[in-house]
Amino acid sequence: MHLGRVLPYGLAVALALPLVGLSRGSAHAATDYQAEDARISQGTVATNHTGYTGTGFVDYTNVKGSYVEFTVSAASAGTSAITFRYANGTSADRPMDISVGGTVVASGVSFPATADWNTWATRTVNVPLGAGLGTIRATAATAEGGPNLDRVGVGAATDTQAPTSPGRPTCPDLGEDGLTLAWGASTDNVGVTAYDLYEHGNKIGEAPGSSTSKALTGLTPATTYNLTVIARDAAGNTSAASPVVDCTTKPSSDTSPPTKPGTLSVAGITANSAGLSWGASTDDRAVAAYDVRSDSTVYTSVTSGTSATLTGLACDSPYTLNVVARDAAGNLSQPSNTVTFTTKACATDGGVPSSVSTLSTGWTIPWGINWLPDGKTAVVTERDDFRVWKLAKDGTRTQVGTVPNTVTTNGEGGLLGVAVGPGWATDHHVYFMHTASEGNRVVRMTYDGTRLGDYTILLQGIKKNRYHNGGRLAFGPDGYLYAATGEAQTPDLAQDKSSLNGKILRMTTDGKPAPGNPFGSYVYSYGHRNPQGLAFDRNGRLWEAEFGNSAKDELNLIKPGANYGWPTCEGSCTVAGMTNPKATWNVSEASPSGIAIVRNVVYMASLRGERLWRIPINGDAESVGTPTAYYVGTYGRLRTVTKVPGADQLWLSTTNCDNNGGAADGADKILRVNIG
Ligand code: GCU
Ligand code: CA
Repeated sequence: MHLGRVLPYGLAVALALPLVGLSRGSAHAATDYQAEDARISQGTVATNHTGYTGTGFVDYTNVKGSYVEFTVSAASAGTSAITFRYANGTSADRPMDISVGGTVVASGVSFPATADWNTWATRTVNVPLGAGLGTIRATAATAEGGPNLDRVGVGAATDTQAPTSPGRPTCPDLGEDGLTLAWGASTDNVGVTAYDLYEHGNKIGEAPGSSTSKALTGLTPATTYNLTVIARDAAGNTSAASPVVDCTTKPSSDTSPPTKPGTLSVAGITANSAGLSWGASTDDRAVAAYDVRSDSTVYTSVTSGTSATLTGLACDSPYTLNVVARDAAGNLSQPSNTVTFTTKACATDGGVPSSVSTLSTGWTIPWGINWLPDGKTAVVTERDDFRVWKLAKDGTRTQVGTVPNTVTTNGEGGLLGVAVGPGWATDHHVYFMHTASEGNRVVRMTYDGTRLGDYTILLQGIKKNRYHNGGRLAFGPDGYLYAATGEAQTPDLAQDKSSLNGKILRMTTDGKPAPGNPFGSYVYSYGHRNPQGLAFDRNGRLWEAEFGNSAKDELNLIKPGANYGWPTCEGSCTVAGMTNPKATWNVSEASPSGIAIVRNVVYMASLRGERLWRIPINGDAESVGTPTAYYVGTYGRLRTVTKVPGADQLWLSTTNCDNNGGAADGADKILRVNIG
């Protein structure tokens, strides 16, 4: 096993790169000598072109042997880089011989064309210079003479010679979590600045050019490291790699694992990430890392701190995770407690109903459908016989009880919405909205997964009538219960903020007005006629569908305290203080009851319209795109649509057994719609 990517060295690699770049990029400053100040033989100082430096340039007489001689000074003897600045406005080369102290050191040096006489270029030649003053002469080598010469710069020569390869490395000292690497010294014309140590292709450390060994620490016991050394000089020239040595750290003598991590908790769950934190473990030596795992699959390892943000998770998917602590020897602690969570809905917008099948038959006006937190079964109410059922994902249904004190209105009252409480796993609370003797009620019962029990009235006396009883319940992401009430065929109640009718109500799980409600009462929004559709989107926003009277049905985006207009407005209007719907339909084409949201698309079940409307929300904007209709007339009147947890799937129920539908009891169905 090679574990060369040892973390502590990552920093050293990152720091080394800019330093190398710096030493290469900053050429030593050159000293400039102007040609017009030099000794000129067969040439004149000229200014008849642009772009020269100093006070002019030298125009060589166009003969072989014309020259310019500079007297220059070098700090120390050695190779210097001399750089001529010149212009050659012809198309032909103007080669020159370069001599130092009277000796030609570079003959026929090329000075090629530079586009025109105003365009200057440089030509660098490495030449040996003695210490102190000396002469550099540039002599025209052909009958065309030299180019025009502006100046010469004298600077340190560029080192292009790499150090020799370091000698074969060895590992004279092997420990459990470290080793000493030694190698033979490299030589260099200027000097070795540093040795870079590599494990495979990864630099894991470096040593100064004066040393030939290095202690590597933070290694893993019983692990083979495949090591090479490369020498580097100040100019950044690197040697060929040394031969390779394989060195294996000793097995660990540590056999005692860290203690079990403290309580693991999860927070900040998104569609693709979740935050985990836990209590620290202790170890007789040190905790090297915490592994966040699902069964034995490690999602991430944490080497510092006691928290992690898991990213790259699948959306709308369940996760069951724990954490174990690990020491450098690989000893694992007992796992922490397990946390279970489901990532948020997938961000991919869109999809359309791609297939539909019958999930379950034998129903009589199924009205409310709500899922248990396990996502395996749902609770389903029947409006007119007050029965409550458990319906499993495979379509199996079992009656679990009835809701007492329920009466019909010989119209649209009866047993209506159901919402499973957010604390169901521990308190078994399930909430119903139903019609009773005095009016409509919101009540709480217990449901243990098998049978309904208890019965607590949370809110009663909401006016009832044959029609317009609303009835939908939904828990918001805020943990409060939202209830849609009709105006009980008394339109003015919808505008009366002291009435519970024609409203969206918002309450606590104990039936008190939710804190922060806009009027300090149960009322959350008003001006509704007969709302039966409630659904929260991925942004936590509440969408609502309600029946219009004879003109327009509405899909509304609900804001606290807003007035949705009934009975002043049906559909859209321009009355100050009233909020318009996001979409409207002719009542003959919709008459909507339930709504559900899948992949940022609202699906709306329609009774009179006998169709499922698809209404895409425009991203995160407060608007919707063009609605389209599915299954028009195919399944009759459609009542309730519910997203299936953990799937791009809807359950869709019919209401064909009521007075309007005229079918025999038991003729209603629950359909399964796939969104693809
Ligand atoms: C032109 C140009 C001169 C140059 C000369 C040459 O006369 O203006 O600057 O030196 O050509 O060919 O050398
Ligand atoms: Ca010339």
